[in-house]
Amino acid sequence: MQMKHLKLASFAAFAACTLAACAPSGSFTPGAVWEDNNGVHINAHGGGILYDDGIYYWFGEHKTEGKAGNVANVGVHCYSSSDLYHWKDEGIALSVMPEGSGSDIEKGCILERPKVIKNEKTGKYVMWFHLESKGRGYDGNSKSGVAVSDKVTGPYTFLHTIRPNAGHWPLNVQPCHLSGKIQIPEGYGFSGGNLPMHADTMNILGRDMQGGQMARDMNLFVDDDGKAYHIYSSEENSTLHISRLNDDYTGCSGEYIRAFVGRFMEAPAMFKKDGKYYLMMSGCSGWAPNEARSAVADAIFGDWKELGNPCLGDDVETTFHSQSTYIFPVQGTNKFIYMGDRWTPQNAIDGRYIWLPVEFTNEKFTLQWQNEWQIKGSFALKGH
Ligand code: GAL
Repeated sequence: MQMKHLKLASFAAFAACTLAACAPSGSFTPGAVWEDNNGVHINAHGGGILYDDGIYYWFGEHKTEGKAGNVANVGVHCYSSSDLYHWKDEGIALSVMPEGSGSDIEKGCILERPKVIKNEKTGKYVMWFHLESKGRGYDGNSKSGVAVSDKVTGPYTFLHTIRPNAGHWPLNVQPCHLSGKIQIPEGYGFSGGNLPMHADTMNILGRDMQGGQMARDMNLFVDDDGKAYHIYSSEENSTLHISRLNDDYTGCSGEYIRAFVGRFMEAPAMFKKDGKYYLMMSGCSGWAPNEARSAVADAIFGDWKELGNPCLGDDVETTFHSQSTYIFPVQGTNKFIYMGDRWTPQNAIDGRYIWLPVEFTNEKFTLQWQNEWQIKGSFALKGH
């Protein structure tokens, strides 16, 4: 009887998909429209996955139509799934505040790359995101926002925005920072792309030491010991910071390192496999894709060793027209999935998702394009 129901259900899913010309049931089709349980393209950009109590939750930026849809008009969207192929719309987990409210997360602000982790000690779900106040573009305040909820799908309550690690030097601070000498040319406008001088010479770190460090593209990572980390592009995007969160995950601990100094890494995605820490990152070219970078370390605070572009095959110089947002393990397997965004800034809501299997060779990880693929014993690849 149960079997019969299952068969009927999968036939119904197949029929619905065929009629709607959506992706076939039970596989990933990177770059295609990815419909949720209501037949609507999933709206969770710059997203991440939380696995909680047997269910995967996908949180991401809810975008709206047109160019104006790149800013936060709605909030953070949440979806749930038990198989990673089929996603149920769980609604808006964190809503932006009404226009004119003066809130840091007022409608029209820039609210990007939301990530949610669970604090096993407090039982709370904690969301962090990159936040720029409304009307200030990316030259705004480069902060992180924090929201919490007792329930995984929300609603999340906005707690505060912070500039990380105010008053704290990183563990690997250099004498040039401590000297207090700041060499930023008068009226110099940072482009987010590169600097005329080395980041250390300018001492952007020292400039921001008291008020807190800049934090743009970001991610979160929870280690096996329950310590959580905030990884963010800092110092005018020139340098990545890896920063331990406090015990309840709602603020910084003051313990952090600088990594990849002057390398302009964005879109950091961290994961751990067989005791090694890995990072995938992009360069800085806004919505346009660029060549990915990767790195490995034996300890989270380094030393980090760059491993180059992890992509193999065609279109590797654009990371298959995508930018990293998250890499996560498939439960019950030793497999990891790359989640990337194919941004469509002219019509933000149409952004596509590039999910690919992560393969490992020696200490490196690699990605290869797949037209369609499934999670199998080994990552079995269809239509390669
Ligand atoms: C990208 C960044 C995105 C978004 C975009 C805006 O580099 O990764 O999250 O901020 O720039 O141009």
